Amino acid sequence: MNEKEMIQEIQCLKKEKNAVILAHNYQIPEVQDIADIVGDSLKLSQEAAKTDADVIVFAGVRFMAESAKILSPDKKVLLPVYDAGCPMADMVDAESLRIFKKEYPDVPIVCYVNSSAEVKAESDICCTSSNALKIVKSIKKDKILFVPDQNLGSYIKEQVPEKEIILWEGYCITHHRVRSIEVNAAKNNHPNALVLVHPECSKAVVEKADFVGSTAQIIDYAKKSENKSFIIGTEMGILHQLRKDNPDKKFYLISPALTCYNMKKTSLEDIYNALKFDQYEIKVEKDLRQRSLVSLERMLKIS
Ligand code: 13P
Ligand code: SF4
Repeated sequence: MNEKEMIQEIQCLKKEKNAVILAHNYQIPEVQDIADIVGDSLKLSQEAAKTDADVIVFAGVRFMAESAKILSPDKKVLLPVYDAGCPMADMVDAESLRIFKKEYPDVPIVCYVNSSAEVKAESDICCTSSNALKIVKSIKKDKILFVPDQNLGSYIKEQVPEKEIILWEGYCITHHRVRSIEVNAAKNNHPNALVLVHPECSKAVVEKADFVGSTAQIIDYAKKSENKSFIIGTEMGILHQLRKDNPDKKFYLISPALTCYNMKKTSLEDIYNALKFDQYEIKVEKDLRQRSLVSLERMLKIS
């Protein structure tokens, strides 16, 4: 089957099964183009919660498909590549949070959606990179534990000095490796460009940015800006949407290291196989689902 035939087959299977394809902004261009909805983590979880499709094919990583299943338990949720995971989500576990809670029972836990269902179940509320500030500000307590991303946590901490935010030591292996000297070099090469970065980058990189936001917020900023060139500090998959939306503007990636290996695992063929063979179905056990739903729903109510 060539690519054109595969695209046609995917469209047929989608109709036949009443399926919707959700894709994250970091997916490869062909996958983004076949998707019904492309977006950041918040938008995709909102869409998963409200879709009337019977099947959700989630082109992203496991925690995203798992959140979709928690929010839409009656739908069949498929993750096309079984081992598409997020290394940062694996940097915190439920048992460690239970130990923390025993010692600090009054300290609420805010967990970034890049986390397992078990971690969400032990947390008070979830957040994404686009609503983290709003979520943290909504918490009445002065002391908070933020897991697992120390970079997003530290970016939020700067903006709410009145609160004591304890940071977990997790990080995104893709964003964390960008260095501030690489930002300097990009600025020297493109002096008129604005620097747009994701808050998963380190503090040293975030400090040099003109704008910090989630993938959707970066896309929105670039579209509305009158500037003609941008230095991008987030995963390279975002360039597809940026260039599609702004054919007259230039986009330069800070570093070629901004490639998330897990986000790049899903191909068109995987989407086809997912729809054809109903693979790989995400299941979340009932009790765990109910406990993790609380923190996700609290977030969606505030967003
Ligand atoms: P957002 O699209 O919500 O900014 O998330 C970034 C990310 O790293 C997802 O894995
Ligand atoms: Fe995880 Fe980072 Fe990849 Fe997002 S970009 S899935 S946070 S490793």
